[in-house]
This record gives sequence, structure tokens and C-alpha cells, in this order.
Amino acid sequence: MEIEQTHKYSFLAKAFHWGFIILFGYGIFKQVDELEQLADQALLVFELVFAIAFLFLLIARFIYMKKTQTSSLPATTSKLQQYAAKIVHYGMYSCLALIPISGILIGVLYWSGIKSGFIITGVISVHEFSFSLIYILIAIHISAAIYHRFLRDGVWNSMVPFWKEKLD
Ligand code: HEM
Ligand code: HEM
Repeated sequence: MEIEQTHKYSFLAKAFHWGFIILFGYGIFKQVDELEQLADQALLVFELVFAIAFLFLLIARFIYMKKTQTSSLPATTSKLQQYAAKIVHYGMYSCLALIPISGILIGVLYWSGIKSGFIITGVISVHEFSFSLIYILIAIHISAAIYHRFLRDGVWNSMVPFWKEKLD
């Protein structure tokens, strides 16, 4: 089948997409395992700075994507599938925001001496729930991307620099 690459994400859009995977992976790699670790002041400050920078970049990414880019889904894609893609994308953005916001709240509460009780426990639950949710959304997202790779409809090529669809 002959396909034409009709839609491409800009260099910056790709840099945001792949850069965030590295940044998010790093955040998970150096994660805080227990609340008690925050007694280390240097770690607490580092976590807070990282979370604020992460949130700032996420907002920049979201505004840039909304203002300048559109989905690569072909116009013939069913409404249901378009909604599904939207829900997964917005869901990932929501989790990516909720993770640093709840993290910052944990840090601020701890800093203010609120180190136990239902408030901080509740915020930690939100922090952990966002992870459980985003892992599911990422699994759906990657499965959908691979599905499109087999459809050879140009969605994969528009964002992914490897295992390219052949444009005969
Ligand atoms: C190997 C892994 C991945 C592949 C192959 C992949 C592929 C893609 C593709 C093809 C698109 C374009 C979809 C369209 O135009 O409708 C896209 C968009 C998107 N991806 Fe991924 N992705 C991967 C991992 C991730 C991860 C881990 C996240 C979240 C942490 C993520 C978040 C997003 C978001 C939010 C969009 C929507 C466009 C935007 O606002 O940036 N992706 N991805
Ligand atoms: C983008 C920023 C952040 C990322 C990527 C991140 C990552 C993680 C991950 C992967 C976990 C394990 C979740 C689970 O087991 O389900 C975790 C837990 C935790 N995070 Fe974060 N975190 C971030 C920001 C913060 C900040 C700013 C703080 C506080 C200063 C913080 C404090 C904690 C604590 C205390 C736990 C352990 C909760 C427990 O007792 O089980 N995080 N974080």
C-alpha cells in the first residue's frame, strides 16, 4: 500500500515528547521510597526543585502542543477512536501534572512539620494513585502506537524516529 506522510510533528514537539520520557524516567529512578528520607534536607530541596522544574516544562509543553500541533490521526478515524486518543493523552497530562503537584505538597507539608496524619497520608495516596494510573495509560498509549505502526497510517512516523513505516 502506498502511504504519504501528510502530518509531522515539529522538532520541538518531538523533543518535548522524548525529552519527557527521559525526565520522567529519571524522576522514577531517583524516587523517594519512604517519607522518612525527607529528613535529609538536601534530598528534600532537590526533590522540590526537580518537581517545580518538571511542572514548569510540562505547562510549556502543553501550551506549545495545543497552540501549534494537531493529532496525526487520519481524518477518517472514527469519532470513538479520536475520543479514546484524547482521553488517554489528557489523562497522561493530568497524571504528569498531579505527580509533581502532590510531590510538592508532600514536601511543603513535611517542611512545615506535618510529618504524619491523614492530610499527608492522603496527599501521598494521590501521588501513588497517579503513578498506578499513568502506568496503565502509558501501556494503552504504547499499544495504540504499535497498532498504528501496523496500520501504516502515518501516526507512528509522525512522532517516532525508529522502525519507520516504509513510504514506498
Ligand atoms: C516507546 C514509547 C512511545 C511511543 C512509540 C509513542 C508514540 C507516540 C505517537 C505516535 C504519538 C502521536 C499520536 C497522535 O498524533 O495522535 C504520541 C503522542 C503523545 N505521547 Fe507518546 N509514545 C511513547 C511513549 C510515551 C510516554 C511514556 C508518554 C507519557 C509519559 C507519552 C505521551 C504522549 C502524549 C501526551 C502525546 C500527545 C501529543 C503531545 O501532546 O505531546 N508517550 N506518542
Ligand atoms: C516529578 C516529580 C516526582 C516524581 C517523578 C516522583 C516519583 C515517585 C515514585 C515513582 C514514587 C513511588 C510511588 C509508588 O510506590 O506507587 C514516589 C513516592 C514518594 N514520593 Fe515522589 N516523585 C516526585 C516528586 C516528589 C516530591 C517533590 C516529593 C517530596 C518532597 C516526593 C515524595 C515522595 C514520597 C514521600 C514518596 C513515598 C511515599 C510512601 O511513603 O510510600 N515526591 N515518588
